[in-house]
Amino acid sequence: MVKSSNTLAFLCSNCGSDYPKWLGQCPSCKEWGTLNEYRVPKSKRSSRTTKTSLESTTLKDILKSNPRQRFPTKINEVDRVLGGGILPGSLILLGGNPGIGKSTLALQILSSVKNSSLYISAEESADQIAMRAKRLKISSTEMQLSGENCIEEILKQIKLLKPVVVIIDSIQTVYSDGIDSLPGTVGQIREAGQQLLQICKEQGITILLIGHVTKEGIIAGPRMLEHMVDTVLYLEGDDRYDHRILRSVKNRFGATHEVGIFQMQSNGLVEIENPSELFLAERSINVTGSAIFASMEGTRPILVEVQALVSNANFGTPQRNVNGFDLRRLSMLLAVLEKRLKLPMGMKDAFVNIVGGLRIYDPAVDLAVIGAVASSAMDKPISQDMILIGEIGLAGEVRSINQLEKRLIEAQTLGFKSAVVPAHGFKDVRKPLGKMMFHKVTSVRQAFKVIFP
Ligand code: TYD
Ligand code: MG
Repeated sequence: MVKSSNTLAFLCSNCGSDYPKWLGQCPSCKEWGTLNEYRVPKSKRSSRTTKTSLESTTLKDILKSNPRQRFPTKINEVDRVLGGGILPGSLILLGGNPGIGKSTLALQILSSVKNSSLYISAEESADQIAMRAKRLKISSTEMQLSGENCIEEILKQIKLLKPVVVIIDSIQTVYSDGIDSLPGTVGQIREAGQQLLQICKEQGITILLIGHVTKEGIIAGPRMLEHMVDTVLYLEGDDRYDHRILRSVKNRFGATHEVGIFQMQSNGLVEIENPSELFLAERSINVTGSAIFASMEGTRPILVEVQALVSNANFGTPQRNVNGFDLRRLSMLLAVLEKRLKLPMGMKDAFVNIVGGLRIYDPAVDLAVIGAVASSAMDKPISQDMILIGEIGLAGEVRSINQLEKRLIEAQTLGFKSAVVPAHGFKDVRKPLGKMMFHKVTSVRQAFKVIFP
């Protein structure tokens, strides 16, 4: 901790630890070059004296008192991502690239809050927000707008208005009088984050912080906000498509990796009820290098198309490129193809794309990726009504995956007639699955006999 006599401190932008002197490497998180100078605010130089920190309560008493009830927003996709609605007293971070629709989503969330709410925007004028609200056909009379960006003033407003939900658009524009560095710097963001966290827990209000994300996909400024908040949501999208994906990467009160899918329309973000249909809409039939996979995004199955293109490498080192998939995982799958299936990949360029801008972390996609790559390499299309599901191990085995039943039901609903699935774990599928045909396989070699007869 920083000594009281020292007014300068150094703060790690990755983990938020502070040190009295500058160091090249943060001793705590071992990251290099992340320490930034900041001036310790006067109020922080003495130890904490808030009353609440000295009190404690027994668990029994807490359990006896009424637990806070979540309140749903009118937007189902948002509720699911949050784990069933907004939990009073939670601090939420919503990140995303500029122009992706964060302010739009925030305004739509506020419009569904019946009690008083406060929208603080230092980025846009009240007129601009009002214009957007008009476009979104929002006419909530309980919503207050403010252009304040000094954290001390914001706290005063919150105490005065006692709103249920507060939106800060964006955290990078908020500054504290006690710190003489520019808004958006590490010290400023941490100070604002901490003050908002405190009021949020003390008064049981929900605060949604909007944060800009850099091109590399990290929240500009400190990652440490991610450690501080209860929930981290990202709004993602692809310039080429008008749909947006809301993803929870951290959630203290719900499942992570849950996604909500929206379409940006002239009247705001509209929920997509059947995402599988959206992702398969432009699917090309009977083309080589395309495979369909049922992914579990949080608790919901979504069908996606995996595309691969394999061609002869024209330059010395073959190129490997991925979109929505892990590059190292692709290298591993190419090695399995080469070693276990004797399909030479060493001098081939290989490109893999998950269609529609989804990013797949689910290992069950392996079989679809290897299938699409082999389909392109061998110039043989995969049957259009077949889906491939399974994780692949280094020995070329197809390993069991979770929630197979849910995935198969989704595939069946969308008219798929056959599925290549791991033999292990298939016995867990209990529901009768109509006329769908199952090929239970234990190895990639066996799977390929079915996929490329
Ligand atoms: P915005 O919410 O301002 O993005 P952010 O806060 O993440 O920077 O939304 C920006 C884009 O969304 C802008 O290019 C216009 C578009 N948009 C629509 O297409 N329809 C709408 O109803 C609204 C409000 C915005
Ligand atoms: Mg905005």
